[in-house]
Amino acid sequence: MSGNPLPPSTPVDQLQRPLRDLRVSVTDRCNFRCIYCMPREIFGRRYTFLEHKDILTFEEIARLVRVLQPLGVQKVRLTGGEPLVRKHLERLIGMLASLGGLDLTLTTNGALLASQAKMLRDAGLQRVTVSLDTLDDAVFRQMNDVDVPVQSALDGIDAAAAAGLNPVKVNMVVKRELNDASVLPMARHFRNSGHILRFIEFMDVGQTNGWRMDDVVPASEILAMVHAAHPLEPMEPNYPGEVARRWRYRDGAGEIGVIASVTQPFCRGCTRARLSADGSLYTCLFAGGGHSLRDVLRSGASDEEIASTVRALWGGRGDRYSEIRSSETANLPKVEMSFIGG
Ligand code: GTP
Ligand code: 5AD
Ligand code: SF4
Ligand code: SF4
Repeated sequence: MSGNPLPPSTPVDQLQRPLRDLRVSVTDRCNFRCIYCMPREIFGRRYTFLEHKDILTFEEIARLVRVLQPLGVQKVRLTGGEPLVRKHLERLIGMLASLGGLDLTLTTNGALLASQAKMLRDAGLQRVTVSLDTLDDAVFRQMNDVDVPVQSALDGIDAAAAAGLNPVKVNMVVKRELNDASVLPMARHFRNSGHILRFIEFMDVGQTNGWRMDDVVPASEILAMVHAAHPLEPMEPNYPGEVARRWRYRDGAGEIGVIASVTQPFCRGCTRARLSADGSLYTCLFAGGGHSLRDVLRSGASDEEIASTVRALWGGRGDRYSEIRSSETANLPKVEMSFIGG
């Protein structure tokens, strides 16, 4: 390809997409039981969490990231489950920060963020994204299903901003008749805050969230709602393939984003690989299975052997699930979101 800025060792997949982002799940556990992600009635009975020995050590994760940097990885996002329930996460962050050259970020539900923000920042974390679906305390408690008050997530957001983990992004998954009434209050709350609120269309991830197209509030509808109250204008993407479409308030009150993975899929620019807590590489959020890099690591493979395994996996990738989604694909076996962190 002429004009391709990538060095020859960086692979592209079957659709010519490079590998740029690695989302690393550091645990499959979570202190919430969000009804659209880890519904208690299903997980309570059937789900068994990974054993400690099966989870990648910090050393193993840092090695994989170091080996994948020359393949193109520039951004690492730590996820879970809930990443902040993994003990001494700051150690991993320190190890990744010392590799240099990475955009290092984390997605959290925010409940443990107030107590950890400064430590994470000091260790080298650059920014955070906090999931927050409503400001209504009763709805928040109903959605997380563990009775955590909304104030704890708001305190986490404040602490993150105070610690310099900016810009703080706030992710709101919108599900019809559950929290769509919170769209405008959320927009109002985060106007002029310096934080970037992003509205996410409810997706058919995993096999337990009972997704129906009727539950999806299209991004166009969300934008129309916000625009009617507080006029918006479009902004250019920060980088090619950005997941969120950016909009700013015409009155200068800041920026919002919409992530329209159902109604306007963005697979064409998808440069993301996902690593589960037990070290499997998934090339799509909706994949039925992954490929164990832990087995490769623990078999004593050299860095070059690990790199060529990933090069081959990425080179064979043809995923574009969101572009081919239908009521039939919604029922295919898929990895749970709590296992690979969204
Ligand atoms: P930054 O631009 O670095 O802030 O990251 P981001 O926009 O990728 O944000 P984040 O990782 O918080 O992703 C936001 C949400 O978008 C996720 O929680 C998912 O719900 C959705 N999402 C992210 N990546 C994908 C993807 O590859 N496919 C699909 N279908 N949805 C995605
Ligand atoms: N659809 C869209 N986003 C989801 N998330 C969890 N489940 C879904 C879903 N079904 C979001 C969380 C968090 C991120 C990790 O993924 O709210 O922001
Ligand atoms: Fe909720 Fe995130 Fe935990 Fe899933 S992983 S239950 S979305 S907090
Ligand atoms: Fe990437 Fe799969 Fe999401 Fe499409 S559906 S953007 S291929 S992770």
